[in-house]
Amino acid sequence: MSIIKLSAIDSTNSFLRDMIANGVVADYTVVATQNQTKGRGQMGTVWNSEEGKNLMFSVFKDLSKHEVVYPFYISMAVSLAILKSLKGLNVPNLSIKWPNDILSANNKVCGVLIENVIKNKLESTIIGVGLNVNQTNFKGLPKASSLKKITGVQYNVDEVLHDIIGNIKFYSEMLEAENYKAVKDAYEANLFRKNKPSTFKNAEGVMFSGFIKGVSKYGKLMVLLEDEIIEKFDLKQITLMY
Ligand code: BTN
Repeated sequence: MSIIKLSAIDSTNSFLRDMIANGVVADYTVVATQNQTKGRGQMGTVWNSEEGKNLMFSVFKDLSKHEVVYPFYISMAVSLAILKSLKGLNVPNLSIKWPNDILSANNKVCGVLIENVIKNKLESTIIGVGLNVNQTNFKGLPKASSLKKITGVQYNVDEVLHDIIGNIKFYSEMLEAENYKAVKDAYEANLFRKNKPSTFKNAEGVMFSGFIKGVSKYGKLMVLLEDEIIEKFDLKQITLMY
């Protein structure tokens, strides 16, 4: 495994994408920075992070030798890897907010942006992780937090990086061993608001309530609605309000 550390970069995901376009990249190549000038989030959002305080990195995962039938399993594996690392750091009340935000209580400490590289079939994937480690000021972002803000501890960002990469390997190997059920069960066991009465907003802005029951193998959120029917939603169709 090689780690490429950059003092500043627009986006570690974009940097890795360009590397892949320009040549052969080894499995588990990591690009990390503490100063990202154009960080990208899910659904076209921006990922902002105070310089020198947090962890921003992308991992290249070669999938050409192990066919991944359901790419959402990679997303589940990555969420579990981060969760395992944060549990090891004694961060309290951890959960995974579907599809792959990591929360401590109701606050987001980590976001994941997975970008697949498809040439005829799914060849590889870029796993982008933004973890708020030592930043304590989140003006205008009432739901954002960091490890330090929650625990009061100042962390060594490099140590956290190595630990998460180790755990990404651990869960990727579970997928390579086709241990799919264990990954999905663990993911669902840690799902934020599972089986709790929750309120959602649909794409038209209409609010409705239901109970999160789990995820489908395609990564859709399964919600038990008031009429006792379970419906599956993708990310564009639904926002979990509380
Ligand atoms: C989200 O929650 O919206 C996902 C945020 C992902 C941010 C990380 S930071 C490292 C990598 N490079 C990017 O441009 N984005 C991801």
